[in-house]
Amino acid sequence: MTIERHLTDADLARDLRADVSHGLRAQPKTLPPKWFYDARGAALFEDITRTEEYYPTRAERAILSDQAPAIAAASGADTLLELGAGSAEKTRLLLDALGEAGTLRRYIPVDVSGEALTETVARTGREYPGVEIHGVIADFEQHLRLLPNGGRRLIAFLGSTIGNLRPPDRIAFLRTVRKDMTDGDALLLGTDLVKDRARLLAAYDDAGGVTAEFNRNVLHVINREIGSNFAPERFQHVVMWDDANEWVEMRLRSSQDQRIRLASLDLTVEFAEGEDLHTEISAKFRREGVESDLCDAGLTLRRWWTDPSGDFALSLAVAD
Ligand code: AVJ
Repeated sequence: MTIERHLTDADLARDLRADVSHGLRAQPKTLPPKWFYDARGAALFEDITRTEEYYPTRAERAILSDQAPAIAAASGADTLLELGAGSAEKTRLLLDALGEAGTLRRYIPVDVSGEALTETVARTGREYPGVEIHGVIADFEQHLRLLPNGGRRLIAFLGSTIGNLRPPDRIAFLRTVRKDMTDGDALLLGTDLVKDRARLLAAYDDAGGVTAEFNRNVLHVINREIGSNFAPERFQHVVMWDDANEWVEMRLRSSQDQRIRLASLDLTVEFAEGEDLHTEISAKFRREGVESDLCDAGLTLRRWWTDPSGDFALSLAVAD
């Protein structure tokens, strides 16, 4: 078991400061969703996945339960490299299938959070004694090139996290993955699918208010890391469906005129009553769109699996 670090706490602190400084001066004010996930944010996300309304995690798990052997066979991988591994809870289904297929030699979980990763490495090390576990602390938008090569890799990017990237960043990400792939490698991509608008909105606005708290958590993160004085309760959780872009958007709407002081950035930011801070897009996909994004990046869609209700898809793609 080894852990390789491409990202220190100091790097993360610097990136957060840059994103906040830039995002709060922008029009509209915007923060990237990656900063939701401190320990509390990660726990809140876990809680979201257990709400009645948030179907994507269950739908993706259903596909993996049914199709993991098919995925293992189609990829023939000896290495599972998982981008944004987090707690790697769904990963076990893939590891088990690759183990059954007799090809599995190595698991490479990649995550920005050193804490989550260290735990994942320790746990999978115990549970898969014959497998080489190599954790990498890295940002999938910055360090793809530095990830371990060799063997026949199945590169998994699950959870529809790709939906958090705006289209230009999404294509750039896929192109970088493609450039890093060699013959025999395959990409396994999880994407949430376009569906009834009411269900999409409910998934991001659960009745218990867990998602609202998750959304506001980014303000707690900034208060702690930057020394600012956001009062999270003065921001309302807002969710909308953008029909032209086919994405769900989360925002924090200022419930009053207010002035925020960000001490360590030496920055003061004014919010007008009703002004929105844009915190997340979560794109929803169609097969044609996924296929064309992959194609733009030099990848070919080989297999497409959905859950029985057609809510979520897993794609398997290879370099063309
Ligand atoms: C884990 C990033 C895919 O966009 O659905 C859940 C995060 N945001 N509820 C998503 C999220 C609000 C989630 N991703």
